[in-house]
Amino acid sequence: MLQAIKYNQGNLEVLDQLQLPFVEKYIPIRTAKDGWNAIKDMKVRGAPAIAIVAMLALASELHTLQSAEKIPASSEETRALIAKKLEYLVTSRPTAVNLADAAQKLGAVATAQAEQSGATGQSVVSAFIRGAEEMMGKDLEDNQRIGHHGAEWIMANATKPDVSDVAVLTHCNTGSLATSGYGTALGVIRSLVSKNVLRHAYCSETRPYNQGSRLTAFELVHDKIPATLITDSMAAALLADPKAGVNAIVVGADRVAANGDTANKIGTYSLAVLAKYHGVKFLVAAPRTTIDLATKSGNEIVIEQRPAAEMTNIKGPRAGAPAVDGNVALETVSIAAPGINVWNPSFDVTPAALIDGIITEVGVVEKGSDGLFHMEVLFNGAAPQ
Ligand code: MRU
Repeated sequence: MLQAIKYNQGNLEVLDQLQLPFVEKYIPIRTAKDGWNAIKDMKVRGAPAIAIVAMLALASELHTLQSAEKIPASSEETRALIAKKLEYLVTSRPTAVNLADAAQKLGAVATAQAEQSGATGQSVVSAFIRGAEEMMGKDLEDNQRIGHHGAEWIMANATKPDVSDVAVLTHCNTGSLATSGYGTALGVIRSLVSKNVLRHAYCSETRPYNQGSRLTAFELVHDKIPATLITDSMAAALLADPKAGVNAIVVGADRVAANGDTANKIGTYSLAVLAKYHGVKFLVAAPRTTIDLATKSGNEIVIEQRPAAEMTNIKGPRAGAPAVDGNVALETVSIAAPGINVWNPSFDVTPAALIDGIITEVGVVEKGSDGLFHMEVLFNGAAPQ
């Protein structure tokens, strides 16, 4: 399986996604600052992956401090140190709630440990590190469950009359590269493959950063899944084409509000509008760590603006450059008129009204008889299905 994140007892490495699919290079992340930079620069991206890397980056820094015997003796001082680093890590990218959620949960773990009688700086650090390490395994398990629930839902609701004739369009990258493994929306595609019902996957290029053509296409080719790349502007024509026979669009999410409005990669909203027009099911796949009940609707979601250069420049292999260790030298070229103004929001918000189901690790949430999503059912013990 492709691995965006490699971690072993304080040694963290991430696959540099700025260089994919041309160069496969892991870079070490030793401190919270290294993690912040890798997330901000999008060397690692995808809502679950940035949360995991941020927490493991801090875990790695704490491991180093431990080895150097530099952990403060006082549990309170150590808790405050961890809280400060978490606050800093959360500022790296604002839209995906997974990062804030992880920081809040692990901050609470450190606080709970610090309040134990006899707590020491060491015991607070150990509790934090354990929590951060557990997150990675939990994310993989959640993704496998999301894949299963999503595939079952599609087979039951989107493929009549022939359940073994599934064609899915996905957007951005939600796979092993965006998570600790398997993926969310791409996990649903993987699960459809394992159930032997996927006829074809389509992935959109996902301008401007090309997570689709660079990363999802890379994963689909790697797994030998029958797949075709389209530009974002071809989606309407694809859905209108009976030969393509797309039954469902499945995307990931960076933040799902309490009413089901969903922030995800820019272009997601356009696909949802197209799906409604063409009568194609539109599904969001995300772990519960992406559901933000504190955000009532999409209007409250902060949308990150990315630098103009990520739209006006593209990176590719330098023509004629010799490969070193199987990797080629990359160069950046400009593809826009110098001087043009640029608007580059990284995400958009798809209104809940356009979404047929939200696939989570505990089941698929559909709208109630009032026509609205009630995302709180995911947290009050009531099974969504
Ligand atoms: O800007 P990115 O590449 O971090 O955006 C990623 C997405 O929008 C994904 O769809 C989302 O984070 C879910 S990843 C499982």
